Amino acid sequence: MIEIDNVVAGYTADIDILRGMTLAVQPAEIVTLLGPNGCGKSTLLKTIAGYLLPRSGSVTLQGKNVSQIPVHQKIRHCSLGFVPQTENVFSALTIRENLQVGGHYMAPADCRARMDELCVLYPILGKKFNAPAASMSGGERQILALARALMPRPEILLLDEPSAGLSPKVLHEVFDAIVQVRNQERVTVLMVEQNAMEALRISDRAYVLSMGAVALTGRADALMRDEQVRELYLGGRAH
Ligand SMILES: Nc1ncnc2c1ncn2[C@@H]1O[C@H](COP(=O)(O)OP(=O)(O)O)[C@@H](O)[C@H]1O
Ligand SMILES: [Mg+2]
Repeated sequence: MIEIDNVVAGYTADIDILRGMTLAVQPAEIVTLLGPNGCGKSTLLKTIAGYLLPRSGSVTLQGKNVSQIPVHQKIRHCSLGFVPQTENVFSALTIRENLQVGGHYMAPADCRARMDELCVLYPILGKKFNAPAASMSGGERQILALARALMPRPEILLLDEPSAGLSPKVLHEVFDAIVQVRNQERVTVLMVEQNAMEALRISDRAYVLSMGAVALTGRADALMRDEQVRELYLGGRAH
């Protein structure tokens, strides 16, 4: 479970990017963050992950206040997986080596067992296990990035634009991969997406952000049906 309470954060001392952000994600929910470029979506994920520490307000993960715990400790001790917006696989490394990077802190036998599990969940990984990640398509690389974050069996997963740059068909494969791990491992997912309508289809709820705070929230199906919401926030008509 993720609880963000009145968080204020920014990159420089004089400018707040998050200006009193409050939201929550329940266990095993998929929640999407929407909103225009620059409104603070990636900044929120970075603040939850601990790349940025809040100036005030609190970040609570699985019931523990972890507001001031930096990223390297959070990933290791707070059951958190993070897939950033760009540069999220090592092209020169094989699929196996990329997964091993994700399993860095695990005992070798456990790391191998987890790789086997993830290759069952996502067969493409097993198929190309010893090939360099550079040989994968865009969608396959996204699935590898997801699997790498899943190596230590996180309870919480943060995904920053997992479908960026993908064709509609491949986008569905990546979204299916997200739904699959939520269903099988009950992982709690908070993701940022530009493909609003497609993301809402796999989400339980969504938050629309504006200028560093929540402008609107609701169940995904209700937001999709609301014509005014579609016009104002979701880039027009459903198709
Ligand atoms: N590393 C950084 N240093 C300073 N400002 C940044 C940095 N990253 C993002 N920003 C600024 O923070 C604001 C929010 O950015 P971001 O959270 O990346 O937006 P979004 O992901 O919603 O498009 C923008 O004004 C952006 O210019
Ligand atoms: Mg962003």
